[in-house]
Amino acid sequence: MIRSRVIGCGAFLPANIVTNDDLAKRMDTSDEWIVARTGIRQRYIAVEGQKTSDLALGAAREALADAGIAVDALDMIICATTTPDESFPATATVVQSRLGMTSGAAFDVQAVCSGFIYGLSIADSLIRTGSARTILVIGAETMSRLLDWNDRATCVLFGDGAGAVVLQACEGKGDNCDQGVLNTKLFSDGRLHDLLYADGGVSSTQTAGKLRMQGKEVFKHAVTNISAAVHASVEAAGIPLSDIDWFVPHQANQRILDGTARKLGLDPAKVVSTVALHGNTSAASVPLALVTAVRDGRIKRGDLVLLEAMGGGFTWAAALIRW
Ligand code: UT7
Repeated sequence: MIRSRVIGCGAFLPANIVTNDDLAKRMDTSDEWIVARTGIRQRYIAVEGQKTSDLALGAAREALADAGIAVDALDMIICATTTPDESFPATATVVQSRLGMTSGAAFDVQAVCSGFIYGLSIADSLIRTGSARTILVIGAETMSRLLDWNDRATCVLFGDGAGAVVLQACEGKGDNCDQGVLNTKLFSDGRLHDLLYADGGVSSTQTAGKLRMQGKEVFKHAVTNISAAVHASVEAAGIPLSDIDWFVPHQANQRILDGTARKLGLDPAKVVSTVALHGNTSAASVPLALVTAVRDGRIKRGDLVLLEAMGGGFTWAAALIRW
């Protein structure tokens, strides 16, 4: 059977680091509160004029170089983002043009913090059914543009960045020893809209709005939903959780990472955490964490890697990959 294998990955962060102490000079908060409640120590914030497509392009170029392929080998670009450059066209088409890709297709996916895994799932399906051979999947965000900087309960949590992977068709036997994406599991529950949303949009207010979140409620659902997605993925693969080498979760809050690890009985040493450095970068968070653990040598070829995420909608998702 055809499998989609990750042949390269890349990341991009804006140059501008904002620490908790920097925020404490501008609003009523403290490094102690932010670290104790979230584990976040700093975040990267795009400089004036820097757009989501700029970050996405940086991650895309690094992923293509890492894969060792030219842009004309790509059949498709999928960009997961909640903070597109414009209401339309898709940010993926901006990246397509700036990469010099003149064929194929490019489109955005909107599933907020789960967007990268949704994009990965779509790309995997298109490759396995033979509709495409090589796809660039990006998660890119400028969440700083969507924040209410007067709401200390949300604005200290988020950051900007981008991560990307190149998926390519390869031959597999159809078992769990195959290299590539082994399964993806996608979920949503639109009834939970009011717990996490932006209070604007083209057809409602004609503005982008600002991010609104009932943090405590989101927290409760996060641990439950992420655990359910992880179980769905390993059960579909017919493997015990202990077979997973690396868990790469959405980086919203260290307490959520710890709570999920406790609930699932995971070894915390197998959970990749970048939340201290990046904050919550929504759709960029999973690929940024993934690239971090690949570059520092933790994730190696042949390892079993489980990605998971949860965000506004609610949406939640998991993906099992043999690296
Ligand atoms: O990516 C999508 C997924 N999102 C998430 O997973 C976020 C999930 N939620 C969370 O991570 C946590 O709920 C938060 C970090 C957002 C908040 O932590 P919490 O322990 O639930 O705190 P809280 O909202 O109950 O606030 C506790 C106190 C409040 O003061 P009072 O009412 O007890 O006097 C807040 O006003 O902390 C206060 N507070 C702050 N204090 C200093 C809220 N934000 C801040 C702040 N600095 N930035």
